[in-house]
Amino acid sequence: MTTPTARLDPTDNRTFRRVLGTFPTGVVAVTANTVADGPVGMVIGSFTSISIDPPLVAFSPSKTSTSWPKIHCSRHFAVSILSEDQQAVCAAIASKSPDKLRQAAPRDGKRSNAPLVGGALAWIECEVGAIHDAGDHWIVVARVLEFDIGPADKPLIFFKGEYSHIST
Ligand SMILES: Cc1cc2nc3c(=O)[nH]c(=O)nc-3n(C[C@H](O)[C@H](O)[C@H](O)COP(=O)(O)O)c2cc1C
Repeated sequence: MTTPTARLDPTDNRTFRRVLGTFPTGVVAVTANTVADGPVGMVIGSFTSISIDPPLVAFSPSKTSTSWPKIHCSRHFAVSILSEDQQAVCAAIASKSPDKLRQAAPRDGKRSNAPLVGGALAWIECEVGAIHDAGDHWIVVARVLEFDIGPADKPLIFFKGEYSHIST
């Protein structure tokens, strides 16, 4: 049996972040090829599947993200599901560097023209659909146009503010 802990302060944002961090997520790169800025991308832990038929996925970009408005503008984007050995690529794409995709060994997606990160577990090319207002984030629902699976077999995991792996 676990020992009960003291009640946490529900108004404390840092504690709320810590609580949410106990939910492990996979990590994806959301990328697009834009007319004005060329290839752009951001790392997303809030990616989720929504519907099989029709095929829909979703993620939540922050309203402060500078990459999301560029991705939105291009209307098409790619999701690369990062593998456990892509921590450095992930850190680069999560940065504000203008050439953040340089070490991602990307190739252009057939349907989205977006950069697909080399060595990822799988790729999903999408078109932006409904966008919902959700506090300090947006919820973006996207139509899936194309998908593919790569040879890597273990995902990169984010848990309690750190990268982690699954052991099988
Ligand atoms: C593991 C991980 C998960 C993240 N998940 C999200 C997310 O779900 N939504 C989001 O807006 N930013 C998320 N970020 C932050 C962005 O990837 C990135 O740091 C930020 O978008 C870069 O700033 P920019 O959008 O202004 O280029 C995450 C970062 C990491 C490292």
